[in-house]
Amino acid sequence: MNRTPFVGGNWKMNTDLESGLALLQSLSDQIGPSSPSSEVVVYPPFPYLMSLHQTMAQTITSVRLGAQDVSDQPNGAFTGEVSTEMLLDCGVRSVLVGHSERRHVIGECDALINAKTRRGLEAGLQVVLCVGETLEQREAGETDTINERQIRAGLQDVSAEAMSEVVIAYEPVWAIGTGRTASPDDAQKAHAHIRAVLSSLYDDRLAGQVRVIYGGSVKSSNAAELFSCPDIDGGLIGGASLKAEEFAKIIRATG
Ligand code: PGA
Repeated sequence: MNRTPFVGGNWKMNTDLESGLALLQSLSDQIGPSSPSSEVVVYPPFPYLMSLHQTMAQTITSVRLGAQDVSDQPNGAFTGEVSTEMLLDCGVRSVLVGHSERRHVIGECDALINAKTRRGLEAGLQVVLCVGETLEQREAGETDTINERQIRAGLQDVSAEAMSEVVIAYEPVWAIGTGRTASPDDAQKAHAHIRAVLSSLYDDRLAGQVRVIYGGSVKSSNAAELFSCPDIDGGLIGGASLKAEEFAKIIRATG
């Protein structure tokens, strides 16, 4: 199955306007004018999206713009929320939904994550749905059960047609920002199970087309081994996406 690798750079609540613009420019210089072998999306903080979009529109075509979160509501009295239309105005093409920090730090539940997924897809955005188990759940042998529950809930009422704009990010919570990475073997097993869940929800053909990417302490030193696994189609990168050279090496590791 020929799936275009996907590499996302999740900047989280990092950078300021100046360093964000510099990071994007230097990433574009590193990867060159086109990135033929993979799809590359960066997810900067909301306030910088418009400035980054304007810079990109002028000179950068190899990187697309994403947002770290989105509201499940179209508009109205939702203080502090950001709608799909606002993101589209800022040139955003992709959104992260259900990132572990939003599930476990902010407290988002499966139903809200599903509503955000559906809202994003209805607006024509790509949705990167993040799933993954905590350390406690892993130690209790619940990795596959948790991934399955989060995928079934997150994709409830998402049609097969809409799935062409969905990427699944498997991010074991214990591996995020900790320097601990799932072994390629363990990650591959989890990804194969996620694909089996997609087969049962839709069918084998669709499951074979959806990108399932890995996240959790990916670095240039471990990326190639992870990305060479048959069911790992790229990565969602946090800390290492804040250094252009390191992130560019990770992008090249997909090739
Ligand atoms: P990390 O973060 O690469 O810093 O572990 C990954 C993520 O949270 O998406």
